[in-house]
Amino acid sequence: MTKKNIVTRDIKMADVIHMNYLLLPVINRFDIKLGFGDKTVEQVCSEYGINLSFFLDIINTYHDPKYFPLDKMREYPINLIVNYLLKSHEHYTQKMLPETEQMIDELVHSCRGDCDNLRLIEDFYKKYKTELENHLKSEEEKFFPYVKALIDKKEKEKNLEAIRRKYNFSYASHSIEHESVITKLLDLKNILIKYLPPDYDHGKCNNLLYWLFLFEDDLRDHERLEDVILLPALENIEAQYRQNK
Ligand SMILES: [Fe+2]
Ligand SMILES: [Fe+2]
Repeated sequence: MTKKNIVTRDIKMADVIHMNYLLLPVINRFDIKLGFGDKTVEQVCSEYGINLSFFLDIINTYHDPKYFPLDKMREYPINLIVNYLLKSHEHYTQKMLPETEQMIDELVHSCRGDCDNLRLIEDFYKKYKTELENHLKSEEEKFFPYVKALIDKKEKEKNLEAIRRKYNFSYASHSIEHESVITKLLDLKNILIKYLPPDYDHGKCNNLLYWLFLFEDDLRDHERLEDVILLPALENIEAQYRQNK
């Protein structure tokens, strides 16, 4: 697969997947189903009522690491971004995490000798899964509702600190969590690549590694959207709150 060109409105949606099959889960998050025929990106977006410009920016952000139209991305309505991020959470909790667990379980069962090291991987992953689930849950219960509360007119009369306390949101712990969920996925790959005695089914281990690379790339892009788009937007809204008081 060669990653070239950015995705434009007049490209056939089917060709987007041929250009970069890793975009498939991103397309799914917009609730677009396969079977596009020869429809272009613009036609499919119009059919599903999707904001075309937002779709193209998100797709190209995942497609090309150098593509990130920061100023333009910061202009999109916050709800549009939050709803997209929530869809990604669903993908991680319902697909990526359980399937990774299943692949690790199959790898452990393929072990032929002393399997203690593989058991350690299993334990490492279980802790990681809980950590990522807690991070996603905390964003769903604190971060996103806090952002939404600030843009919601009903909360406008309240004091900023009171709203922040209500949702218990902290910039510092959010940033530590982001660092940790990415680093641990990288650590897991490195344990498999560098240190694990190769006493298991190699095909299964390769599949797990391919999967972990996809997972890490997707999660990195996800966290980048939150850090570079949503957090500065939140800071702006907070600043407006303070000014209006
Ligand atoms: Fe998130
Ligand atoms: Fe996050």
